[in-house]
Amino acid sequence: MKKFALALFLLSFGFILAACGGGEETSGGSGGEGESGVQETTIKFSHVVAENTPKHQGALAMKEYIEKESDGKITVEIYPNSSLFGDQDEYQNLVSNNVQFIAPDLSKFVGNNPQFNVPSLPFMFDNDEEAIAFWDGEKGQEILSSLEGDGVLGLKMWPNGGKHVTNNERPIDSPDDFDGLKFRTQGGQVLEAIYSTLGAGSESIPFGELYTALDQGVVDGQENTFSNIESKKFDEVQKHMTVMNHTRVDYAIFTNTDFWEGLNEETKAIVEAGVEEGTKVAREEAISLNEKAYELLKERGEVEIIELTPEQVEVFRTELQPIYDEFEEEIGADVYEAAREAAGQ
Ligand code: LMR
Repeated sequence: MKKFALALFLLSFGFILAACGGGEETSGGSGGEGESGVQETTIKFSHVVAENTPKHQGALAMKEYIEKESDGKITVEIYPNSSLFGDQDEYQNLVSNNVQFIAPDLSKFVGNNPQFNVPSLPFMFDNDEEAIAFWDGEKGQEILSSLEGDGVLGLKMWPNGGKHVTNNERPIDSPDDFDGLKFRTQGGQVLEAIYSTLGAGSESIPFGELYTALDQGVVDGQENTFSNIESKKFDEVQKHMTVMNHTRVDYAIFTNTDFWEGLNEETKAIVEAGVEEGTKVAREEAISLNEKAYELLKERGEVEIIELTPEQVEVFRTELQPIYDEFEEEIGADVYEAAREAAGQ
């Protein structure tokens, strides 16, 4: 009887062990190639913006697709609002594979490669379609690949949209109105040059600290898309907004090369298709989310809104034109040419 009980105990213990160890759980995809079947994996996607933005909607679509198609074997955890990593540390944590996906504003990579200044070239792209055509083209793809030395793969460009200027001091409708003001930028030599050309100062501040910086007067203003301004309620701490569309916020989905290469074929196919799905949604939603945000900003009535006339835009365009010559060598005549072609110029 005792022997029988022992055998029964060993049998059920073995069964429990087998059930618990049913799949190899990998975080950041250390499962390795060669295994068949979808790897049990937890993927972290970190970003700095709010939920009602094109980036978060793209991330959600990606999560939904991957979790569904993998029958729940792959979990995608999304961390918005700099809740896991902020501008200062998300890239380093991607390099270290502490996070598997980030989708940063490309202008934040100018320190790695000055060609990431493209979204900041004044009045280069009129709309998302032109920006997408550039980043999907040969030159854009080449720039997205330029982080491979860090073990980082650039997968797909996600647009947000054109940027507009807010400030606390005065309504702005001509270059002279910038005189003596200080603006927060996402960073980068071209954005700095834009403000110095207009007689203003600039400082790069992480997105997660921007509301407080505006509130406390560390800077007088900032430039951003309607969806970022509205979702972060910058209008609560700014008095004027000029619709400029002079520069852009564009992102790309970046992943860690070791993580990516560590996925077996079946798993990678699902994750890759998930990235495509996220790209589709982010690209489809960007315009309408920005339009909605603009309407909300108007309804809330916190900022005085100035819409420039085409003549006023031309004055800015002419004023900022010398920036193209200044950066041609650093960014490359070939990049300018590809961008102009994408923009239909
Ligand atoms: C900003 O820092 O203003 C934006 O680039 C944030 C973002 O990711 O859209």
